[in-house]
Amino acid sequence: MSLYNPAMTTTTTPTVIKGKPIADAILTDCEKRVQRIIEKTGVTPCLATVLVGNDPASEKYVDRKGKLCEKHGMKSIKVVMPDTSTTEEVVAKVSALAADDSVHGILVQHPMPKQIDERAVFEAIGGAKDVDGVTFHSFGTMTYSLPGFGSATPEGIMRMMKAYDIDILGKHAVVIGRSVILGKPMAMLLLASHATVTICHSRTVDLPSIVRQADIVVAAVGIAHFVKSDWLKEGAVVIDAGFNPGPGGNVGDVDYDDCAPKCSMITPVPGGVGPMTLAVLIDQTSIGAARQLGVDAD
Ligand code: GUN
Repeated sequence: MSLYNPAMTTTTTPTVIKGKPIADAILTDCEKRVQRIIEKTGVTPCLATVLVGNDPASEKYVDRKGKLCEKHGMKSIKVVMPDTSTTEEVVAKVSALAADDSVHGILVQHPMPKQIDERAVFEAIGGAKDVDGVTFHSFGTMTYSLPGFGSATPEGIMRMMKAYDIDILGKHAVVIGRSVILGKPMAMLLLASHATVTICHSRTVDLPSIVRQADIVVAAVGIAHFVKSDWLKEGAVVIDAGFNPGPGGNVGDVDYDDCAPKCSMITPVPGGVGPMTLAVLIDQTSIGAARQLGVDAD
């Protein structure tokens, strides 16, 4: 009797891609840069965070970003605006921060209340202080591999893949999700690294059949445990950018326990992409400060 069953999938132990050690290395370098900037200019780099409304999860994320800045030798200022704010009011506040020489990076937390024109607010940041990579300028520099700032989570994912020597060139990368801060910039960064890129979204017909073609899957859809093992090619690299509230804590967009045996590499949630997003934001704030103050960033 043959033991070979073509319908049977191979069970493997994947490499678990951990963000924390890579993020820590980035933050160590960042701290040295911050000290150099302070020594040479007497100026302490500063990140301004802007939160519109009082969504508890957003409040927590913004606080975490500010605290991490301070932990690594920078300043942070936090601007909180009521959820009834108008686009004009938020744009005026962000424009004032963009014109303030003591502020070197600006993060406007997404999502904003429905009445706000998010694009107008993001554009008020301007390219020089867009350390979160959300402006059209940053989208352009990401797309054309020009100097600029990467969108925090996608840039973190690229750095993570580099740290794990993941071969991107010529590979088929499928990005699930097309949001402004995740799916779209992710696709552009992968394309700039010579992947063949497919972007899937809520209106994609037969999504599993497309994901099944992927060498690299980036799940950025915001639906808990959305990606299942029978959507995956054997040996796929699976990056989970999801962070969804669940009854026992936050969970990713990938059904980890189901998918892991089929992957060559996979990121966990928490402990995968999350620490990278924060580290990139802090790192880019220090780089922005170096550029604005005329100090060598390297
Ligand atoms: N909300 C969740 N993640 C992010 C992020 O990386 N940037 C911004 N601006 N808002 C977010």
